[in-house]
Amino acid sequence: DKESNAQVPVQSEGAQRLKISIYFATWWALNVIFNIYNKKVLNAFPYPWLTSTLSLACGSAMMIFSWATRLVEAPKTDLDFWKVLFPVAVAHTIGHVAATVSMSKVAVSFTHIIKSAEPAFSVFVSRFLLGETFPVPVYLSLIPIIGGCALAAVTELNFNMVGFMGAMISNLAFVFRNIFSKKGMKGKSVSGMNYYACLSIMSLVILTPFAIAMEGPQMWAAGWQKALAEVGPNVIWWIAAQSVFYHLYNQVSYMSLDQISPLTFSVGNTMKRISVIVSSIIIFHTPVRPVNALGAAIAILGTFLYSQVIWLLLRFPCGSAFPL
Ligand code: 3PG
Repeated sequence: DKESNAQVPVQSEGAQRLKISIYFATWWALNVIFNIYNKKVLNAFPYPWLTSTLSLACGSAMMIFSWATRLVEAPKTDLDFWKVLFPVAVAHTIGHVAATVSMSKVAVSFTHIIKSAEPAFSVFVSRFLLGETFPVPVYLSLIPIIGGCALAAVTELNFNMVGFMGAMISNLAFVFRNIFSKKGMKGKSVSGMNYYACLSIMSLVILTPFAIAMEGPQMWAAGWQKALAEVGPNVIWWIAAQSVFYHLYNQVSYMSLDQISPLTFSVGNTMKRISVIVSSIIIFHTPVRPVNALGAAIAILGTFLYSQVIWLLLRFPCGSAFPL
């Protein structure tokens, strides 16, 4: 049995739905807060390799503290668990740092518009790398997702190639992370919360040397002086907030992944981006042209259509073997 948030088999469908809805709402709210503080930090202190390392470090420290004080029961892991976790941690590290690099170069809304194409990446990876076939409506629903993202990208006022590619790499990496995670969590005795904690710790170990190589203490020290001079000590609180909220939103998202499929997770994640896109445009006064907003709306609508196709296939299965 999982040591916490165990899935009770007799739970009614309604109770299960309510539980997942609460997880989703909490996940999205925490994510909006993370995105706002993350961008405030990156505007003042543009060192995404360090800030993404700090978010992992903060989450790892929070969980080690929770285990030490028995606030959360520590997971019972063996070498095999960490071996299976390694590819997940590599994908998580790449996806996280790539998204943060992207957000250091472009508006938060732009990164998230591109990241709304994650379900399309999920289908392509499942199709071409895992050999799973999908019913035609699934492929058709990808057209507005890809088309909308493309329209939003070509009409973006502050387009930046690193920002664009970072979001694309993040999409690809997170699809692998979600597929491997779900496989790694299946039948294991580790809860979603502890699984994410172990993932953070391993990703922190992987990312630290790369962060030092890519940016390093000298750059950080100079940037820090500048941030303190321009923003003042508030920047410390912003870093603390982005790190804590990064851990919390991911932890809640893993608690939901524990209950749902990678595909449903991807769709929930894209719907989450609507709140991030809208709130960040308002807070950061991001300039948006109507055609640019149209592209984003088509992409999001495409994801909604995609989720409806998936939902219909779930209700009326037609022999497809893909992991809904
Ligand atoms: C990160 O820093 O890992 C990204 O902001 C995560 O993006 P996502 O969780 O919204 O996909």
